[in-house]
Order: sequence, then C-alpha cells, then structure tokens
Amino acid sequence: MKTKIQEQFKKLYGEGASLFASPGRVNLIGEHTDYNLGFVLPGAIDKAIYVAIKPNDGKTCRIHSLDYNESIEMDIHGEKPAQQWACYIYGVIQEMEKRGGLVHPFDMVFGGDVPLGAGLSSSAALESAVGFAINSIFNLNFDRAQLAKIGQMTEHNYVGVRCGIMDQFASLFGDTGKVIRLDCRSLDYKLEPFDPKGCRVVLFDTQVKHTLASSEYNVRRAQCEAGVAVILKHVGGIESLRDVTMDMLDTYKDEMDPTVYRRCSYVINENNRLLEACAALEKGDYVTFGQKMNGSHEGLSKWYEVSCEELDFLAEIGHRTDGVLGARMMGGGFGGCTINLVKAEAYDNYVAEISDKFQHKFGKAPRIIEVNISQGAHRIE
Ligand code: GLA
Repeated sequence: MKTKIQEQFKKLYGEGASLFASPGRVNLIGEHTDYNLGFVLPGAIDKAIYVAIKPNDGKTCRIHSLDYNESIEMDIHGEKPAQQWACYIYGVIQEMEKRGGLVHPFDMVFGGDVPLGAGLSSSAALESAVGFAINSIFNLNFDRAQLAKIGQMTEHNYVGVRCGIMDQFASLFGDTGKVIRLDCRSLDYKLEPFDPKGCRVVLFDTQVKHTLASSEYNVRRAQCEAGVAVILKHVGGIESLRDVTMDMLDTYKDEMDPTVYRRCSYVINENNRLLEACAALEKGDYVTFGQKMNGSHEGLSKWYEVSCEELDFLAEIGHRTDGVLGARMMGGGFGGCTINLVKAEAYDNYVAEISDKFQHKFGKAPRIIEVNISQGAHRIE
C-alpha cells in the first residue's frame, strides 16, 4: 500500500513527497460513552490510512484518492467539495485554520487498508492522517490531542455526525500492544498492556451498514443530553452523564421520557462496566473481562438499541460457542462488526462455527478481520 501510494504520487505530482500513516481502531469496551464524557478502552490497529504529501507552488490543492481512483483540485478557502471523501480533508483544513494554523496549497495522494464501513473508524484514520501530515509539513505545532479535536470537529461540522473523541484519539495516541484507557472528560489516558496470553481477538464484519447509523447516532446523543437536562434542574454542577449516578437517575426517573431513562442508564452502567473490566485487565483476569464485554453487548442491544439483527446473531451464537471469553458489537452500531475474545486453542473452530452459522442464516459469510494492536499516527521515513 505504501509503495503504491508513493508511486502514484510520483506519477501524478513528481518526486519529494513525505509519507504519513494513521490507523483505524478497535474498542474493547466503553461504547457510546465518549460523548457522555465517560471512559473508553480503544487500541490502534495494524490497518491504516497512508498519506503522501508535498507543498506545491500553485493556488490550489491537488488531491488523489487511490481507493476511489478520483482526483480533484481544491481551493483551501473555497466551497466544500462535492465528493464525500474530500470533505474530510477540507474539514480538517478549516478546523486547523479556525485554530490559527496557516495551511498552504499541497499535493496529496492517499489510500489505505482500513476496511470501510466495518466500524473500524476509517474516517477518523483519514482525518488523523491528513491532520498529522499537514501539521508536520507546515510546522503548525498542534499537539496530538489538538489534532484529535480537529478530526472530531471535522465530523461535527463537515460530515454531520456529532461523534465523541474516541476514534481520533485512538488513531493518534495508539501504541503497539497497548490499549488506551481514556477519560473523555479530562483527556487523561493510560496505556495498558493488552496481552491476553492464550487468547486471540477476532472481528466478524456483518458487511451491513444500516442507513440509520448516523441519524440515530445523533438521536442517541440528544437523548443523553435530555437526561442530563432533567437532572440539572435538581442537582447543580452536572455537565454530562459522567456526573450522574444510577441513584440520581432513579430519583428523577418520573420526570423523564422512558426512552431517555433507558439510554442514560445504559451509559452509566457501561462506564461502571468499563472500570470493572479495567480492574480485571490489571489482574490479567480475561474471564471477567470477557463477561464485561458480554454485558456491554446486552446493554447496547436492549437498552441503548443500537444493535441490529446481524450483530445480535453474531453475539448470541458467540456467547454459546466453545472457547469464547467475550463477544459484543463494536463501535456506533446498526451494522459493522463484533469483537470477540477467544481462547487460542479454540480459535479455528470458533471462527469456522460462527461463519457457518451466519452464512446459513443470512446467505453470506461474515468477513473475518484479524487485528494486532499497533502504533498510532506517525511519519514513515
Ligand atoms: C463512533 C463514534 C465514536 C463513538 C462510537 C461509539 O465510532 O465516532 O465517537 O461514539 O461510535 O462508542
């Protein structure tokens, strides 16, 4: 992939490009907690978006997407481009300039091997790769946390998804063999070794993406905010669901729409589950860790209602199959993949059994994605 991108750059724009990469992510537990200023536990993966870039002397940026095999010219201060993929790049530039970064015209070729639509945050990988690359070649001096914020705000203001900070943060801060225990309120984080001896992580991609995904995402966020607003009428200093306990929620339950109550209770429980899962991780107790993953799926499916038939099927048969420690849907939901923690000796049978059953039910095998926890955004020398 790297060579392909470099060659394409040479062919289109000449010599002298610098090369950068920023990866996709998995999340072990802590879903839909980031925009509620709670905790998440993601890790960067060994699949990334690669960017070859060089300043040019012209008035516009020339950009080529390898995956879409499409080239555009883009004015940094012009209209938002028509192509969705280009909006991510345009958005990153606008968010940098809003924060005082001066971006000059450049040539760019990008592409990657983060599977699209699988819930591995290919869009955050793109924003992070582009932000990291522009920041480096024009010496803009944004730190990684600012670049994560720039990527997140690109989603809000140029894509229309009011996402949290998890995906961009994982893409920028990831490290080999370590997951990131991130406090999304303070942005304090700790890299925890993730080395489940005798276990493996595998993803099953349903290869479906229901159209509800981005609209329902914003609805969930609004429901959480509605819950916070009710509590805030009675308890001062509440900023987000992070500040709300189950006791508080139950005290004011009657003032809340029942759906809002269900959404908020999921988030509060998921934060607690994550903390318990992290305590288990520190002790190397992957059995308890897996049980917390299962609890997360149940909450996402029944209380937060962001799962779908395909994901529920994968999780349910996963929970009943030999060798599994934990299985749950991962990411925003309404499609994408499940993440499974499986005993190494049972791995091959587990993968075969789940694939067969899924194929039998839905007429198409899930895509099997193996991931290794890897390095975050970096320059490739
Ligand atoms: C998407 C968003 C993240 C996060 C997850 C759910 O991946 O981009 O910010 O909210 O969904 O945990």
